[in-house]
Parts: sequence; C-alpha cells; structure tokens
Amino acid sequence: METPAKKMTAVVMEKYGGPEVLRLSTEVEVPTPDANQVLVQMKAIGINSVDSRVREGGYMQKLFKPGHALGIDGSGIVEAVGEGVAKYKPGDRVYIVPGKTGTYAQYVLANENSVYPLHEKLSFNEGAVLPIPYFTVYRALVQRAKLEKGETLLIQGASGQVGLACIQIARWLGASYIVGTAGRLEGRNLALKSGADAVIDYRADDFQDQLKEAFKDKKIDVIVEMNSDINMKLDMEIIGYGGRIVVVGKRGETKCDPGNLLGKEASVMGSGLRLSTESQRMTMAKGLYEAAEEGWIKPHINKEYPLEEAEKAHREMDDRKGGVGKSIFVL
Ligand SMILES: NC(=O)c1ccc[n+]([C@@H]2O[C@H](COP(=O)([O-])OP(=O)(O)OC[C@H]3O[C@@H](n4cnc5c(N)ncnc54)[C@H](OP(=O)(O)O)[C@@H]3O)[C@@H](O)[C@H]2O)c1
Repeated sequence: METPAKKMTAVVMEKYGGPEVLRLSTEVEVPTPDANQVLVQMKAIGINSVDSRVREGGYMQKLFKPGHALGIDGSGIVEAVGEGVAKYKPGDRVYIVPGKTGTYAQYVLANENSVYPLHEKLSFNEGAVLPIPYFTVYRALVQRAKLEKGETLLIQGASGQVGLACIQIARWLGASYIVGTAGRLEGRNLALKSGADAVIDYRADDFQDQLKEAFKDKKIDVIVEMNSDINMKLDMEIIGYGGRIVVVGKRGETKCDPGNLLGKEASVMGSGLRLSTESQRMTMAKGLYEAAEEGWIKPHINKEYPLEEAEKAHREMDDRKGGVGKSIFVL
C-alpha cells in the first residue's frame, strides 16, 4: 500500500486577480525531489513587488498557474536532496531563486542550480531579502551597465527593495556619488541611511531642478530606472556623455526623444534577471557571499508577516501602505 503524501501549508493563488485570490491551504502535498533537485524547508520567504504582477496574471504565467503556490524566492534548510545533487545535503542553510514550486509554502522544490549557500553571518530573514533585489541589481550594475569605480549614479526609485540594494552594491563597486529619487519621507530617509549622498522627492514641484542641481558639477554616468514609463524622457535629457540608462522596471509605455542620446553617445539598455545564465547567477551568488563575509551587505527587512496574512501583506504592498523596502513571510 502506498504511503499517503505528506501535507503542508501553502498560500495558493485561486485564480489571477487581486490580493483576495490568495488562500491559505493546509492540503498541499509536500513535493519529492527528483534527480538534481533539492527540497527546502522554508524559514523566511520574500514578498516581491513582482509577485503582484504574477498574481494579477500579467507575468510568468507558464510558471505560476492558478491552484498553485505563489512566490519566487526565500531561505531555509535543506530537507532532502534528489539523486546526483553534489553541492547540498540535508541541514544546509540556503536561499532559493527561483523555486520550481512557489515559495509561499512550508516546503519548496528547487533545481540544485537555483539554490545558493546562505552565509552564516546572515539570518534566514536576511537571506529571504537577498535573492530578487540583490540579484536584480548585480545584473543591472555589474553585468549590464558595468559601473566602474569613481562613476556617478542616479537611482530612480531608490527606496524600494531594488533601489536600496542598488545603493549598497554601487557603494561596494566604488561609485563616487549616488543620488536617489523616492516619494515617501520614510523611504527617502531610509535611502540616505543606506548610503545615498542625496535623495530627492520625485513629487516635488521643482523635482527636475533639484535633480539638475544635485548633478550641477558632475555628469551622470549611470541611471538605474525603476519607473521608465515616467522618467525615460528626463533620463535621456540628463544622462552624461557616454552614460548608460538601465531599464529595470516599467508599468506602461512612454514617449521620449532618443535624439538626446546622440550628441552624448549615451545608451539605453534593458536588464532582466530572468535572462541571466546559470553561470552568471552563480557569479552573483559568489559576489554576495563574499559581501556577507566582508560585512557590507545589509538587507533591509521592512515588515514580517505569517503566511496566514498573505492577503493583507499583498494589499499593503499594492496600496504602498506597508512601509518601504522588502517584506517577508516568517515561518
Ligand atoms: N528587471 C528585473 O530583472 C527586475 C527584477 C525585479 C524587479 N524589477 C522591477 O523593478 C522595479 C522596482 O522594484 P521594487 O521591488 O524596488 O519596487 P518598489 O518597492 O515598489 O519601489 C519602487 C520605487 O520607485 C519609487 N517611485 C515611484 N514612482 C516614482 C517616480 N515617478 N519617480 C521616481 N521614483 C518613483 C518608489 O518611491 P515611493 O514608494 O516613495 O513612491 C520606490 O522607491 C519594479 O518595476 C519591478 O517590477 C525588475
């Protein structure tokens, strides 16, 4: 007689839609690792802004179907490994991005190559903040824009989870001057605390003047853009000679004048974490491991929720009322 499958708690997306489609289920089967797969008992789970897009059905529909758990990253302890797994054994501290199954769950299955060692200097909660924002920024600044020591940086959207990670990684790379933009006071203060030289309120009437003033005696070498639909026209006007505008996020379309790039030989590039190769992600993880060893990496945890409060957590994220930076589920 077959042993009945072990059951676990997970946050299941009943259909695509608003936060109300998230339902706690105690009847989800714990997956079994196949060859080259790792089963992780989750300790903390990332709540990413991109999870809202997935939930709404506008992104990664092949991976996230209704009836299954949501969630892309998180941290925990290896519970079991499949045949051929060489890098991990039960008991290892790890973080995941992405899971093969949704990470809003007690147990998550992941390919061995999507699992990374969690440095002992970082807690599980900090480990859950790492994957999406820090990998995203590593991709954008190191692998795409190739930010060099001594260059200046403008981060459009510096108080979000990606923006805060961007400040830290840019400092580590030796950026000489970092200016961020953000709206909420709490976020602007946090971005300053995280190491930005100046943070400007994008809602201020004289926002553009303040930005130009901040860079009056410096050219802008790199712009990391979280809201390209709103800012691209301005970015193209203010980017410096030989500068690079890296498109990390957008919500809609925009009208801009690429002619502004011509006389400055500036460029615009996209940066997508999903497009990085396995070996590029290994390089990112190695860099972040060394950063943890050196102690400069400081993942900011905004708010902690139990899995039972998934709907509330998403509502607060969508309404921008849940604070700034990355929130997590703690199990
Ligand atoms: N390319 C990739 O691989 C990748 C991976 C992950 C995420 N992303 C994308 O990256 C973007 C940022 O993610 P996140 O999680 O950090 O988002 P987030 O937490 O929502 O942060 C957004 C940031 O943008 C600021 N902001 C809003 N409107 C702005 C405007 N008009 N001008 C300047 N700043 C503005 C926000 O400030 P206030 O909160 O004060 O308004 C906040 O600092 C999202 O679009 C996300 O989808 C891309």
